[in-house]
Amino acid sequence: MTTAPGGLPMTVPADGLPARVRIHEVGARDGLQNEQGVVPTEVKAEFVRRLADAGLTTIEATSFVHPKWVPQLADAERLFPLVRDLEGVRLPVLVPNERGLDRALALGAREVAVFASATESFARANLNRTVDEALAMFAPVVTRAVEHGLTVRGYLSMCFGDPWEGPVPVDRVVAVCRRLRDMGCDELSLGDTIGVATPGHVRRLLTELNEAGVPTGTLAVHFHDTYGQALANTLAALQHGVTTVDASAGGLGGCPYAKSATGNLATEDLVWMLHGLGIETGVDLGRLTATSVWLAGELGRPSPSRTVRALGGAASHKES
Ligand code: HMG
Ligand code: MG
Repeated sequence: MTTAPGGLPMTVPADGLPARVRIHEVGARDGLQNEQGVVPTEVKAEFVRRLADAGLTTIEATSFVHPKWVPQLADAERLFPLVRDLEGVRLPVLVPNERGLDRALALGAREVAVFASATESFARANLNRTVDEALAMFAPVVTRAVEHGLTVRGYLSMCFGDPWEGPVPVDRVVAVCRRLRDMGCDELSLGDTIGVATPGHVRRLLTELNEAGVPTGTLAVHFHDTYGQALANTLAALQHGVTTVDASAGGLGGCPYAKSATGNLATEDLVWMLHGLGIETGVDLGRLTATSVWLAGELGRPSPSRTVRALGGAASHKES
């Protein structure tokens, strides 16, 4: 027998954890930006609708970046209007510069994210800039977004290790986080872009951020699962008080400008753990799994998520 009865974990709460976690779903952006082929716009829109139907309330929809840099998301202008009216769903989009912000504003986006790097190598690979130049590019974006009443997230990549530079010192990460916060970002998402973090490292970074005046309530975690550490790292963050966790349906993802980045933490694996701990997410695991099984069919390969594989037969059967 490969699935638990009813396809749900047994609930056994543990002390010192939040009652509720907000999942910031990144599959449609972080996941699909990394596909070899370009997924048709209507399939992306259907993916976002199904994620919303599964109970996800924050769904990162796309990126308004240079289409030559990320051709997989070059249809942002066509996609966003197809999903922007979903009720009760926050739909953040990535914008690297004022050109990206203009495109997002023109379509009525209410939430944007800039994306910085803790390392020079990744800033160059991802944004064609030094770390300082990238931050200078973001400053007017954040200022104008705040003036328009938008919510602004600041991603920080390579918070734990970098494929070119190796381990990344915690104080360097803290320094860039402070600059993003001083710029006006409402929330910071700590990216383990290549999945090398371990739980003690996560705890150390969160503690040093607090000591530098960055409150836990403004922090989210963004783990990739390259070395199978994403759930352990998430638990460490929850124990520290973090209540916003990024994840990607079916474990889609990676990063086109960091070849050693594999899939993100799978949303289904995260939901299995959170529900097992009695932590509310608002997500219907069966519907979510059925969505990832459906998308895997569209992409022509199975989902890497353990939970999708364990429940997938039942979910696809249920849907048909
Ligand atoms: P650049 O080549 O230095 O651009 O790229 P530029 O500023 O010199 O401008 C060159 C041309 O691009 C100009 O056109 C601009 O108008 C145009 P021209 O005058 O030559 O005709 N342009 C744009 N067009 C459309 N939309 C725009 C835009 N900006 C400029 N927004 C740039 C600099 C930042 C644009 C480029 O490097 C870029 O788009 N990078 C995006 C890379 C990306 O999206 N990476 C993936 C997301 S980050 C990630 O996945 C990590 C994360 O998940 C967290 C984690 O895991 O760590 C968030
Ligand atoms: Mg990522």
